[in-house]
Formats: sequence, structure tokens, C-alpha cells
Amino acid sequence: MSDPVIDLRSDTVTRPTAAMRAAMNHAEVGDDVFSEDPTVNRLEERVARLLGKEAALFVPSGTMSNQIGIKAHTVPGDELLCEASCHIYLYEVGGAAVLSGVTCRTFEGQHGILDVNQLEGCVRPVNDHLVRTRLICLENTHNRGGGRIYPLAKIQAISAWAKRNNLIMHLDGARLWNAVVATGIPAETWAKCFDTVSVCFSKGLGAPVGSALCGPKEFITRARKVRKLFGGGMRQAGVIAAGALFALENHVERLADDHRHLKVIARAVADTPGLHLDPADPETNILFFHIDPELGTAKDVAATLKQRGVRVHPTGPQTIRICTHLDVSAQQAEQAAEVIRTLSRQPVAAR
Ligand SMILES: Cc1ncc(COP(=O)(O)O)c(C=O)c1O
Repeated sequence: MSDPVIDLRSDTVTRPTAAMRAAMNHAEVGDDVFSEDPTVNRLEERVARLLGKEAALFVPSGTMSNQIGIKAHTVPGDELLCEASCHIYLYEVGGAAVLSGVTCRTFEGQHGILDVNQLEGCVRPVNDHLVRTRLICLENTHNRGGGRIYPLAKIQAISAWAKRNNLIMHLDGARLWNAVVATGIPAETWAKCFDTVSVCFSKGLGAPVGSALCGPKEFITRARKVRKLFGGGMRQAGVIAAGALFALENHVERLADDHRHLKVIARAVADTPGLHLDPADPETNILFFHIDPELGTAKDVAATLKQRGVRVHPTGPQTIRICTHLDVSAQQAEQAAEVIRTLSRQPVAAR
């Protein structure tokens, strides 16, 4: 039975398909803390190969993957550089400070995208008073940037600059798959610019749980120990790894559908007086829009849309985020677009 509500709050709300559940049901398992889970091992080998890295580590979440990466790359008193609205800085509960004793230095990006010129001259000199600049973290696609794809040339320039300055590069690639499908640039090409890459299976790919941290063998050996420290060592994890493997094998190419569906919804937002897309040309499966106060607050608009069968995510007093994903069909995208258009015909209910 189809869900009466079209849930566009996040691409994490997907539920495993019947085929994915069957794959999980039949997964071969073992104790992964002993490295004896054949399904986890298969997944790790597969992801490492896809990203052109020596090894990978299966972890419960994207947050843990990023935070293990930060911990394994740094010592307390180090500094990482990142964009001001990235997930690592904004939405990981200050993990870099709490778990690794690392300070974050932020730079304002254009919809999440930095230019190497912004970084020139920012590496701190060796000095008893100063933190050591150690790591740079980028995000592709960029969540708060409205699913923005990092132009490869910009990443390559930052990567070359990082190398010249002895800095380590980490990618939060929670939605790297969306960038791959939207551009046709293979995951390996993006990953080449980074020492380590985190990817998620539980966003657009539709697996219920799981991320992977990829990098050099020696790094992953250290990361494995940090995973244990953070409580992320799992036992018969093959059950969930099978969902991730299934997602990798079956749900990457179809992300193009999500991108197409988002464009249908984006057109409705752009056509509706009082709503303003930001950025105006969403590229993947995420869009943000601002709401003129005459139409109400983001919460008012979200409540009205919910009454009309569409759930969205208010991310600020006048801002809403929408994501498309595996559980949104072409017909539901059209339907959601039609509901959004009603905002101009039947304005938001009185507050
Ligand atoms: C860009 C990005 N990185 C990391 C994460 C964290 O993933 P998780 O929710 O699995 O911890 C998210 C979650 O939405 C994200 O959008």
C-alpha cells in the first residue's frame, strides 16, 4: 500500500525495499570485530575498489565515519579547515572538539563551495602559541549548499594546495554517489584528490544503516581501533552490510531519477509567488527555499503542506529543505509539486 504522505524531509527516511530485505535476510555473517563477517569484508573490499583506495571500514553512521577520520588524522591541539555550513562543523555535535581536541577554522563558501584562494596564507606557522593546521575537510555534494556539486577543478586546486602545505584532505562524501551520477565523473576520480573519503549507504542509496571510511591500509588499521574506542565495533554486522551492498549494486544509477524528480518540485517552488529557491538551480536531490513573511513562517508553511499530504523540513525561521529519494516516485514528485503550487491559490492557514 502506498504511503498517503509524501515525505520530502530527508533522503534518510527511505525504508528498505523487499529485495533489499531479502538480501539482508540471507546475509552470511560472522563476528566483524574479529574481521570474520564475510559480508562486511565483501562490502569493504567493494567500496575500497570503487573509490580507488587500499582499504575501507564499515561503520554505523556518516557522523562516526567523519569523526573517526578526524581522530585518526590528528592529535589534540590540531586544527582542521572547513566550510562554515558543512556537516562536520554544524551537525556533528562539536565532535572534532569533544572527541579529538581539534579546533575548526571555517571559511564561508558559495553554497558550500570553497575556492583555493580563500585558503591561501591560512596555514599557521610553527609557533609555541599556535595550533597546528593539519586537516582540510570538504563535503560533496554539499547538504546545506542545496545538494551542490563541488566542481572537480576546485577540489583539484585545493588538493594540490593541501599537498604543497603538508595538509591531509578528507572528504565527507555522504552523497558522493549523487555527484557521480549527476556528472558522470567516477567516484575514483573524486576520491583521488583526498587521503580519506567517507561515503554513506543510508541516504539516497536507501540502505537502513551504514557508512564506510576509505583510505590507505595503514590509516584504516588505525581507524579500526578508533571505531572500537567510539563504540562502533559491530558483531554480526553482515545483516546491515548486505543492505549496503544491495544499495551499491542496485540504487546508484537510479539517483538520476531523484535528480529529475527534484527538478519537477523545484519548478513548482520557482513558479510560486513568495517562495525563493536558493540556489536557484538545484543540481541533485536537495533544494532549499526561502519564504516571504507574508506567506507565514517556515513552520506555518510546513504545517500547511503536511495537511495537504507533503512533509518538508523547516531549517530556519523562513527556510525549508526538500529532498527526493528512493521512496518518492515520479507521480509523487508531480503530486508534491502540485501541492506546493496550491500555496499561491490557497494560502497558508491562519496562524
Ligand atoms: C553531508 C553529510 N555528512 C554526514 C552526515 C551524517 O550521517 P549520519 O546521519 O549517518 O550520521 C549527513 C547526514 O545527513 C550529511 O548530510
